[in-house]
This record gives sequence, C-alpha cells and structure tokens, in this order.
Amino acid sequence: MKAVVVTDFGSQPEFVELPTPEPGTGEVLVRIHAAGVNPFDWKVADGALKGSVAHEFPLVMGSDGAGVVEKTGPGVTRFRPGDRVYGQFMRLPQGQGSYAEYTLAEQDGKIALIPDTLSFTLAAALPTASVTAYQAVQAVRLDRGHTLLINGASGGVGQSAIQFAARSGVRVLATGTPDVADHLRELGAHTIIDFTEAPTHEQVAAHHPEGIDAVIDLVTPAGGDISPVAGLVHTGGTLLSTNHAADPDALAIRGVRGVNLANNPTAETLTTLAGLAAIGELRVRIDAEVPLADAAAIIAKARAGHSTGKTVIVP
Ligand SMILES: NC(=O)c1ccc[n+]([C@@H]2O[C@H](COP(=O)([O-])OP(=O)(O)OC[C@H]3O[C@@H](n4cnc5c(N)ncnc54)[C@H](OP(=O)(O)O)[C@@H]3O)[C@@H](O)[C@H]2O)c1
Repeated sequence: MKAVVVTDFGSQPEFVELPTPEPGTGEVLVRIHAAGVNPFDWKVADGALKGSVAHEFPLVMGSDGAGVVEKTGPGVTRFRPGDRVYGQFMRLPQGQGSYAEYTLAEQDGKIALIPDTLSFTLAAALPTASVTAYQAVQAVRLDRGHTLLINGASGGVGQSAIQFAARSGVRVLATGTPDVADHLRELGAHTIIDFTEAPTHEQVAAHHPEGIDAVIDLVTPAGGDISPVAGLVHTGGTLLSTNHAADPDALAIRGVRGVNLANNPTAETLTTLAGLAAIGELRVRIDAEVPLADAAAIIAKARAGHSTGKTVIVP
C-alpha cells in the first residue's frame, strides 16, 4: 500500500510503499478514503511525544481518517466488512496512522460508524478538531448569556467550538482576520476580534472591563505566556488551553479554573458528531482535498499557518 511516513523524529515526510497490515485479534483493517490533517500530526512527527510513548519507525503519519472496513480480525463483533467508519487511527507503538491507503484500528478504540449521508471527506475532517471543540465547550461549563473568548477561532478546532458554544446560547468572541469574519459570524460568532489590528486581550478588555466568563485558548504554546488572555477571565470563570499552557494552580489563587484539555474521542462522542455533521448541524469548512502523494507539500504549507478550515488527504 502507499503511505506517507517519517523514518525518525524530525525527518521529512516520504511517500513510500509498505506492506498492507493484517488485522490481529480485536482489530479491523480499514481502507482509508480520506485522512484529515491536524497540527498534532507534525508535532508528533517532530517528537512531541518522544520519551512518553513508544514510536515505531517508519511511522505512518496522521491520526484522523474515514473509510470502509475491509477485513476483520478474530474476535471482532462491533464491525464487519463494508461498514463505513471514521475516527482516530494514530497508533504510535505500531507505527500506524491515517496517511495511508489502509490502516488498522481496535474495535474498542477510537472509531465509530458514520451515516450513509456523511461524506468520507467531511467525516475525516471531524475527529480531532471537532471532538476537541465539543469537549472544550463542555469543559468550560457555560450557560446561556455567558461570554466566551475563543482565541484561535479561525482554525479547525475554533470553527467547531464557535458552533457548539453559540448553539447553547453563549455569546462568542472569536478571533479572526477580516477575510474569514463573515464565515465565523455565520457559524455563530457574536463579535470578531481582528488579532492583527491590536492584541486580542486589549480589544476584549476594552469592551469587557468587568472580565469575561471563559477563554478557550488554541494559540498559546506549552510554556508560552498565556497570562494576557487568562487575565480576561473574572473570578469563578475558566481558562482552557489545548496546548497545556494553563497553570491551574496559579489560576486557582485568583479563583479561576484552569483546564488543560486532551481530547478523548469516545465512540459515543464520535457518533454524536457524525450525526450532527450529517444533518448540517455541525459545519466544517474544507480548505483543500489533496492526493496522498502531495501530503508532504501540504504538511509544509499547513505548518506555515493561515488555516481557515480543514485540509483532507484523499488516498
Ligand atoms: N489537546 C488536544 O487534544 C488538541 C486537539 C486538537 C488541537 N490541539 C491544538 O490546538 C491548536 C489549534 O488546533 P487547530 O486544529 O484548530 O489548528 P489550525 O487549524 O491550524 O488553526 C489555528 C488557527 O489559529 C489562528 N491563529 C494563529 N495565531 C493566532 C493568534 N495570535 N491569535 C488568534 N488566532 C491565531 C490561525 O490563523 P493564522 O495562521 O492565519 O494566524 C489558525 O486559523 C493547535 O495548537 C493544536 O495542536 C490540541
């Protein structure tokens, strides 16, 4: 099968031929029809989890994918050949990922069936970004009328988070440049903050001197200074980071809850999100669909930023 691999941490992605894997006990072999691209994919290839998780090289890149069950291993009862499925397929100790024609998943792992009406492309764009958005909005625990800043709202996680928050009546302040402002408003954002005009925290503080109820920060890297946006949250509110940039102990001193979120794509959550996407209740903008052979170039482009939606690789 064709696949995109790295042969070591930090090496350039390569388009190669690999043996098609065989499903073992409890595993399904999935023929990938679409693989979603996420910043996590190259962070892992660069070594973000080096030392904490075993990695097998060559390592097939990518986590998110959607396709059809081709074959099942012994003991598989939840899926059968022909099922349309999607989810997260990254298995670092086995060197497996979604940027390939075929990959394996555990039947009890991070996959679920998708409705016939949901395209593989849209399904592949959902798992990491939309599950993170869904769980982030749940984790900040806001009610109707509360105010939430989504810092980094114009990307994959942010666009889904806008929709989940707005649907529960939360007033969403979303960062974004003028070219995406109308789109973010259509998704449910109340106010767009052009972060290229002036620092986001200054713009928000000017309109909310009393503070806001929560921030979902998708921008500050681990070890970066999150204090400017954290300072916007009033006592009793929540600061959530998807990059482990929150310091819950320091925030607790002034009565703010700090959350470092790691997404957990359960089959139940995946099923819920696929259902919402199938009926148009969760909208995902696809920036580009590219062939597997062009994955290396697409990763280089995605690393440079300016994401305004999701990129999907089509093997
Ligand atoms: N913990 C988890 O489980 C988890 C899961 C998913 C994602 N993540 C992390 O969450 C982050 C967001 O993921 P994603 O998939 O949404 O990434 P993405 O699609 O690349 O989107 C990031 C967005 O942030 C914008 N941005 C960059 N700098 C900004 C700034 N200073 N102010 C406001 N916006 C800014 C970017 O726009 P420009 O490039 O145009 O500036 C881009 O639209 C990534 O760091 C990712 O690794 C963590």
